[in-house]
Amino acid sequence: MNYDNVMKLALERGFYFPSCEIYPDAQAGFWEYGPVGVSLKNKFLELWRRELVRRDRMLEIDGSQIMCKSVFEASGHLASFADPIIKCKNCKSTFRADKLIVELASIEVPESAPIEEFDKIIIEKKIRCTKCSGEFDKAHKFNMMFKVGIGPEEEPAYLRPETCQSIFVDFPRLFKTMRGKLPLGIAQIGKSFRNEISPRQSLLRLREFYQAEIEVFCNPKKLNELEKFSEVKDTVIRIQVNDSQKTLTCTEAVESGVIPNKFVAYYLGLLSEFYEKTGIDMKKSRFRKLSDKEKAFYAEIAFDFEVETTTGWLELVACNYRSGYDLGGHSNKSKEKFEVLDDNEKVLPHVFEISMGIDRSLYSILEHNLREDKENDRIVLSLKPYLAPIHVGILSLVKKDGLEEKTDEIYMKIKTKYDAFLDHSGAIGRRYRRLDEIGTPFAITVDHQTLQDETVTIRMRDQMSQNRIKISELDSVLSKEIAYP
Ligand code: GLY
Repeated sequence: MNYDNVMKLALERGFYFPSCEIYPDAQAGFWEYGPVGVSLKNKFLELWRRELVRRDRMLEIDGSQIMCKSVFEASGHLASFADPIIKCKNCKSTFRADKLIVELASIEVPESAPIEEFDKIIIEKKIRCTKCSGEFDKAHKFNMMFKVGIGPEEEPAYLRPETCQSIFVDFPRLFKTMRGKLPLGIAQIGKSFRNEISPRQSLLRLREFYQAEIEVFCNPKKLNELEKFSEVKDTVIRIQVNDSQKTLTCTEAVESGVIPNKFVAYYLGLLSEFYEKTGIDMKKSRFRKLSDKEKAFYAEIAFDFEVETTTGWLELVACNYRSGYDLGGHSNKSKEKFEVLDDNEKVLPHVFEISMGIDRSLYSILEHNLREDKENDRIVLSLKPYLAPIHVGILSLVKKDGLEEKTDEIYMKIKTKYDAFLDHSGAIGRRYRRLDEIGTPFAITVDHQTLQDETVTIRMRDQMSQNRIKISELDSVLSKEIAYP
């Protein structure tokens, strides 16, 4: 199903909706998660913790969202985190120059290109304002960080544009207090903020968004010495380099030089295994090696993990080899020591990052799993059971004859262990369909037979099949079916 179908589901069933929607001055690019959206997000993040943080024995932190100016002087964001923009001389509308040029002249100019390049193409291709056909002023760079004033003196600080800066500035303390050893992964889930010029498509381009970032600190001389690479040696990844698409094992990718070393291949392998478990259709995914012009200013090598949706290919994760750029920058600015000992050798660790966009990942999971079952006249969200916002619906067939009380009793027994939804009202078929739409894998129905033999029916969302099980078996059946892989 497509973007509009997902949007309809999100709005009508409480996955997500616009922020401050009751007011006319609500700005674009800010969205809220509703109850089922939060539940899906929490489960997705638990899977991320299991498959990446715990699997690789990383450390997890939770840093501040507002950071001082020095951080962004050292990181380069104050100087370089800017989009090329153009303003109409007539109606004053502002556009991203690179996006407008692609749209109107089908020419790809990287956002990091020299600013004169945009002016040149705008003049050559006679590009005019799409709102009033007015002429454009010269292009200029617009810094995308949100500036805030701290205290009555309004000291300058910024909402972080990427969560990883906390990981970099905290690195010396963390390495010391946690008795770190290279390679060491440090992870963080949190909000980041970017003053996007054209936020759009709900969760796909936000001004306030969630990231799950992992920064792995390593000794740059040991990128091919990684015993744990054997865990992913046969893991298959799809990878695109210079327009050629390859499906390779991690070993083949390293041996053929498509991926530069075992270290990077190991983490791309881990990431691929993680996304497989989210239920994203991996046949519609790829790692795409970015050209020099496309890479972020801090990246030496970059692979984007992308997923095909009805809106086009979406970047879900930026995998950047940032080398010594960050720790070097913070070390120079702060005069703190960022070097550590690795087998008695003093090294300034290099960084490989796995920077995941949570909101886009959730959108992609929804789109890849939402289907129309025409035969049975229903919409089904075939989420993996461990990601389902509601694990199980607990329904009474009818309210009378003591069935409501019996249903409540079952619900009370399991409600703290599972995300259960109690529902007594409405036609049973309609209640099943509402649960199918939000991806609930199981529905338990209490009927007259329950009162005689302590059994209930359990209905499977995907097959629509129903079995009778004993109430005493319910917990063991659910915990087996809902367990993370
Ligand atoms: N830390 C990389 C990014 O936010 O894209």
